[in-house]
Amino acid sequence: MTACGDDADDTGDDTATSDDGTSDDGTSDDGSSAELELMEEGTLRVGSDIDFPPFEMVEDDEIVGFDVDLMEEIADRLGVEVEWVDTPFDTIFTQLAAGDFDAIISGITITEDRQQTVDFSDPYFESIQSVVVRTDSDISGVADLADADVGVQAGTTGEAYAQENFTDSTVRDFPTYPAAFTALETEGVDAVFADLPAAESQVEGSDVLEIAEEVDTGERYGIAVQPDDEAMRSAINEQLEAIIADGTYEEIYAEWFDGQQPPESFRS
Ligand code: ARG
Repeated sequence: MTACGDDADDTGDDTATSDDGTSDDGTSDDGSSAELELMEEGTLRVGSDIDFPPFEMVEDDEIVGFDVDLMEEIADRLGVEVEWVDTPFDTIFTQLAAGDFDAIISGITITEDRQQTVDFSDPYFESIQSVVVRTDSDISGVADLADADVGVQAGTTGEAYAQENFTDSTVRDFPTYPAAFTALETEGVDAVFADLPAAESQVEGSDVLEIAEEVDTGERYGIAVQPDDEAMRSAINEQLEAIIADGTYEEIYAEWFDGQQPPESFRS
């Protein structure tokens, strides 16, 4: 099938100087790549901050993780190849909106704020926050964070929550999740506030870290697309639904989360 995506900067909103003029936006959405306006034909350019185990990371020179498997599966079913573009988390939304990617997946929480800039797929994962400390710490949860240095990743929902709620703490930004955890291990900060699944993965690999408290922020991850790219959004949603319905989602989940079952809404 022919992907009709042809011009590079098709964010739709501003001066779309597409050379061919006719943007054939017959948005009959049967989920095939035929309606997708891709930056490059046959390729889904996906931005991600590839340093967020177990969702996206580099292992033996390969990009792997839950998000990676899920996105590859979606792309596969759309008949396109993923081109992964590693990108800092705190500029990922503006870059997407500026037309740098066809989509982004990066353990991204769907928020109203972000919906001002980009559009989201249906949710594909449920998450909450957590306070991570060293095992020798006397911080046993949020209540002990006054006067503490709390590490967060810049641009995340964890950062926003910490700034709003930990008003007696010093919230310190790190460019990546692993950098924040390294600072915690080396006593550069007293705690890290992080998405629970990512925190669990860090704690698993460390002798000196533990989760002190879980904070139920009720977050849901989504795949973001360029604002108003309804064809892309519905194509992704359609494949996501099929991947959940036929049990592929459960397989991917079990692979990255110790053989566990996903929450009810993601089971076939
Ligand atoms: N879920 C959080 C958020 O949306 C953290 C995501 C961090 N992702 C990453 N790849 N570093 O802000």
